[in-house]
Amino acid sequence: MADNILAIDQGTTSSRAIVFSADLAIAGVAQREFTQHFPKSGWVEHDPEEIWQSVEWSVEQALADAGATVQDIAAIGISNQRETVVVWDRESGKPVFNAIVWQDRRTADMCERLKGDGLEPVFSEKTGLLLDPYFSGTKLSWLLDNVEGVRERAERGELCFGTVDSFLIWRLTGGARHVTDATNASRTLMYNIAENRWDEELLAHLRIPASMLPDVCDSADEFGTVAVGPLAGLPILGVAGDQQAATIGNACFEPGMMKVTYGTGCFSLLNTGNELVKSKNRLLSTIAYRLDGETTYAVEGSIFVAGAGVQWLRDGLGIIETAPDSGELAAKADPEQAVYLVPAFVGLGAPYWDAEARGAMFGLTRSTGPAEIAKATLDSVCFQTHDLLTAKRGDWQGGGEETGLRVDGGMVASDWTMQRLADILNARVDRPVILETTALGAAWLAGHRAGVWPDREEFSRRWALDRQFTPAIDDAQRDVELDGWKDAIRRTLTSPS
Ligand code: G3P
Repeated sequence: MADNILAIDQGTTSSRAIVFSADLAIAGVAQREFTQHFPKSGWVEHDPEEIWQSVEWSVEQALADAGATVQDIAAIGISNQRETVVVWDRESGKPVFNAIVWQDRRTADMCERLKGDGLEPVFSEKTGLLLDPYFSGTKLSWLLDNVEGVRERAERGELCFGTVDSFLIWRLTGGARHVTDATNASRTLMYNIAENRWDEELLAHLRIPASMLPDVCDSADEFGTVAVGPLAGLPILGVAGDQQAATIGNACFEPGMMKVTYGTGCFSLLNTGNELVKSKNRLLSTIAYRLDGETTYAVEGSIFVAGAGVQWLRDGLGIIETAPDSGELAAKADPEQAVYLVPAFVGLGAPYWDAEARGAMFGLTRSTGPAEIAKATLDSVCFQTHDLLTAKRGDWQGGGEETGLRVDGGMVASDWTMQRLADILNARVDRPVILETTALGAAWLAGHRAGVWPDREEFSRRWALDRQFTPAIDDAQRDVELDGWKDAIRRTLTSPS
């Protein structure tokens, strides 16, 4: 019986496909970047057709890389960039507009209006989220109001809304299934996470017809069978938003366990078990996963720019050739220079939630050069993680640190950055052997459901540490650096937080 699992990880800047063998090893992998569209300041779009093609291509290449055919695969798991909105025609499957990406800020005014109407507590109570353009709801509302004919077609029941997972499942199943999972639904601003259902009141405030919404499944569930292409006949048995998938892949199954993923953005999730903890510090409550109808919650801190800052060093400033060069360059920085970058390129996420803030750099002198800028960029990721942990400490005793912080994502390959993270956080940082935790989490959901992968306990036991980083600077130095960061943040915010 086939026991390999194919994971599709559809991220913000690239799509990846990975074939995992039953011993959790990577047998084949392929990745393709796709175009980022920035039609106006603060707007970010993707072409859903290009996403689809990048997924098709990655799947074929990953199978070839693994020397596998469809007969060797037991099931498919999908993880995806969350919140990003796709609307497509129920008949033709054609998107009606570009995907509006989670980073997109075009609905900042709408969020302010809803807040002005006193609705933030209503949304927050039901969804665990805040009224920020980050989430899908206001983006979908914008699409209905601003793209010609869309509202009318939606009201006639002709259009489907979905996050990217939902769009991919629709395409893979040849239009047979319009579904999503509970973790993705929990990011839309329309889903009641306590009652696990789309919420009529919120839909009314956002003026969204319920007929557009997908059915919501558990994270390990029957999502449909592939009807087209090289995967035809395979069942899709696992789906989770990428950050939740990484929480699973990092085996953070126990309350109090926490992971931080450094991808395009940076997202920390603290498992709070069956308890829906409401943050007092402007963090989010969200669904970590839903298995066998049982919901596990998390407190999440979301930062919009992490790896995207390194990309800016590479593609915007041209001061590094490849992303891994950033750590080496930063290590050469003059320690006497206190340069701070606040990478509010698309506003600031948790715990500040300032959609209008824009990036700023402080402490520049005539001798500031590429090394200091690279260091400030990597430092900003560490300082922002520090802000998240500080906020979390107020919401949950220990803030997850007692178990160590499990990290993953592209940036954590840099020893320099991970040591810096441990220094700034004054906490232990645990880097696992498998850094592809997002894809692994999606694969585990599917493999477990298919009955060919180990259960939760055994999967947790197999989580393996690559390297542990422990703090190596003294409190006095840390305090000075953190004071400089706080000052930089204060000067960047558009209104005092
Ligand atoms: O909430 C956005 C998040 O899901 C994007 O993740 O890995 O593409 O930065 P990533």
